[in-house]
Amino acid sequence: MVARVIPVDPFDLVIFGGTGDLARRKILPGLYRRFRDGQMPAEARMIGAARSDMTAEAYRELARSALEDHVAAERRDPETVARFLGQLGYVAIDVHGDKGWLDLADAMRPGHVQAFYFSVAPGLFGTLAEKLHDHKVAGPDARIVVEKPFGHDLGSARTLNATLAAHFDEHQIYRIDHYLGKETVQNLMAVRFANMLFEPLWNAQFVDHVQITVAETVGVGGRGSYYDGSGAMRDMVQNHIMQLLCLIAMEPPNRFEPDAVRDEKLKVIRALDPVAPGDIVRGQYVPTNGTPGYLEDAGNPDSRTESYVAMKVHVSNWRWKGTPFYLRTGKRLRARSSEIAVTFREPPHSIFGESERWAENVLIIRLQPNEGIKLKVMIKEPGPGGMRLVNVPLDMSFADALGEGGNDIPDAYERLIMDVIRGNQTLFMRGDEVDAAWAWTDPVIAAWQERGDRPVPYDAGTSGPEDALMLMHRDGRRWREIRP
Ligand code: NDP
Ligand code: BG6
Repeated sequence: MVARVIPVDPFDLVIFGGTGDLARRKILPGLYRRFRDGQMPAEARMIGAARSDMTAEAYRELARSALEDHVAAERRDPETVARFLGQLGYVAIDVHGDKGWLDLADAMRPGHVQAFYFSVAPGLFGTLAEKLHDHKVAGPDARIVVEKPFGHDLGSARTLNATLAAHFDEHQIYRIDHYLGKETVQNLMAVRFANMLFEPLWNAQFVDHVQITVAETVGVGGRGSYYDGSGAMRDMVQNHIMQLLCLIAMEPPNRFEPDAVRDEKLKVIRALDPVAPGDIVRGQYVPTNGTPGYLEDAGNPDSRTESYVAMKVHVSNWRWKGTPFYLRTGKRLRARSSEIAVTFREPPHSIFGESERWAENVLIIRLQPNEGIKLKVMIKEPGPGGMRLVNVPLDMSFADALGEGGNDIPDAYERLIMDVIRGNQTLFMRGDEVDAAWAWTDPVIAAWQERGDRPVPYDAGTSGPEDALMLMHRDGRRWREIRP
């Protein structure tokens, strides 16, 4: 199946932080892939902006090497790369300074979509918004794309929302959560709302529990100074996992449109119960078989920051009362594996007698790697010997089901940047969502700090702390294995 590519309108995209890690690893390669697929018109222009004094030619060389490092060789024919680089420019600007803004304002072409990507340190987001406004760089319909983290807590998120709102309307602000750009995350909405199969069963009457797992093998080495002030709760749960939970738990929006979807997500966040202290496990990886532990990676021998968190949460509304959601995420775990598993309840009566063990029906939505959807169902074991039951997966790997199109899944960033250019905010967080997510997260973190809790240790390369197993065992349930 070959994907349909609909070209976007001509645009000027300014990437503040255009020489940084995110720009080199994700933004420039993502833009190139959209260009290569024919989604970008010839008049589209992308302008890097950072403090470093360099010519546009030098910036194109930086971009070329980023593509060499982060785009597969078979997708990089020299002619296409050269045409793409020809659409790149560069302006030297210090966000704190006053130089360069006039040049940038002059470079903006009236009548084209204008977008400004804030890929600089979060401490610069507010000042950048002010400068774009004060120097009259951004036109009345300009869009700004704000990276994460969006605040450190409720207070700082509110301050940032207020600063942005002083210069830009909400419809101009695109708060990125790259998990919403992942293909399977969007598929979650397609599976739920484009099929009649699941939605009638999608409630506490039929769903026993839901597990959301985002397991990583990487440690925090290299970003220790950021991560140590953050931890898994702020870095992953407040944003990415919260968004996954919303998409699973929300009511059907009346249309797949920005405010309709975001209104429903907001209701889920507001319906979350505070988490009981006994329903959370925090962990920190320790040195194992030569792999450094968290304290060394973070460069802080006294750190109490968690690199793992597991918790049981409840969504208090009619649909979900009685169905717990178990969430977990961590660094340096056994495998890189992210999935959502919806486990259905047992049938009310077994006609096959007590000897036939029943196993759960589970719908597994696999986010990464090996994107796909699996449904575990009971069937008769083939062959003679009476009615023996067996639990088998109905397995739909996207690569198998969609052929070439399933293998060539676009990166989250490329999809999201094209949505900015199209002016579609559906997959971006609204200010009140971020606010509500912090309002739920803050008391959890405050309680840890008050108690002075230390995270429990876990060996690198395992499934996380033993205590996390207990979180489910005591409810008579167990975590799914973390497998690649
Ligand atoms: P880097 O430190 O790698 O890059 C920072 C960029 O900002 C550089 O281009 C730097 O260039 C520029 N810069 C720094 N100070 C100024 C200034 N005063 N004025 C103008 N430009 C400046 O950061 P990342 O690329 O890793 O991160 C960028 C943003 O993306 C952050 O908000 C981060 O939280 C977020 N993010 C990053 C992820 C990643 O994987 N890297 C993942 C998720 C979010 P120069 O020094 O020349 O000015
Ligand atoms: C980022 C977090 O937002 O997401 C990182 O800051 C994390 O700590 C990353 O590693 C995970 O993203 P992905 O797309 O690799 O699952």
